Amino acid sequence: MGKVVVADNVTHSYPQRGAVLENVSLSVDEGEFYGIIGPNGGGKTTLLKVLLGLVKPDRGIAFLRGKAGYVPQNLSVEPYCPATVKDLVTAVGGRSAHEVLAQLHLHEIWNRRFVDLSGGQKKISLLAMALSVSPKVLLLDEPTAELDVHFRKHVLNLLRDLSRRGTAVILVSHDINFVLTNADRVLVLSKMVVFEGSPSKAGEVIPKVFGMGVAGK
Ligand SMILES: Nc1ncnc2c1ncn2[C@@H]1O[C@H](COP(=O)(O)OP(=O)(O)O)[C@@H](O)[C@H]1O
Ligand SMILES: [Mg+2]
Repeated sequence: MGKVVVADNVTHSYPQRGAVLENVSLSVDEGEFYGIIGPNGGGKTTLLKVLLGLVKPDRGIAFLRGKAGYVPQNLSVEPYCPATVKDLVTAVGGRSAHEVLAQLHLHEIWNRRFVDLSGGQKKISLLAMALSVSPKVLLLDEPTAELDVHFRKHVLNLLRDLSRRGTAVILVSHDINFVLTNADRVLVLSKMVVFEGSPSKAGEVIPKVFGMGVAGK
């Protein structure tokens, strides 16, 4: 299997802030479902931006092979922006917007303005935009944070299906159980790589990193 994402010894600091990533290395294979967890401020969002080439690391290298889809943690849109979900998905996508519409059950919000949507509906719309490019690598930053149970299940099935068909899925999530139950491999990030490997072996480091146990694990 080919590696589609590689980071090698990545270190990054923001101005007036010490290092937020230190010597972070990882690689993700085609079709792998790769989970990233860690405490708030642990550098997860910054790491995704480095992988995408949006943030240039101070040291180390990162690259990504193939078309990338990105679901950002937040997207600020000017409050009077008139764009509907349909406008946004159509503008971003090379793929038929209607395919994504059906795949994500977006009918109810398709013709509504993005700025008027709830947090969860915005997340689903961002996922629709990311999917519309038919990505080889899909990076998601807290995609399920504001979704109801029904949609969380739907999104999870979709991600599993995509990875089965060869898309590398890199998922950052607060939901530790969600990641440990579903990822092929997990990275625990707290500025440095605390753990990388099988989710079944991550249990030991989690109380140390998060200062607590994990329910049901
Ligand atoms: N643009 C920025 N400028 C300065 N500091 C930042 C910026 N973005 C993030 N940080 C800081 O870097 C650290 C890591 O942030 P982030 O990557 O968002 O972590 P996480 O996603 O794990 O919560 C945090 O302390 C955050 O406050
Ligand atoms: Mg974040």
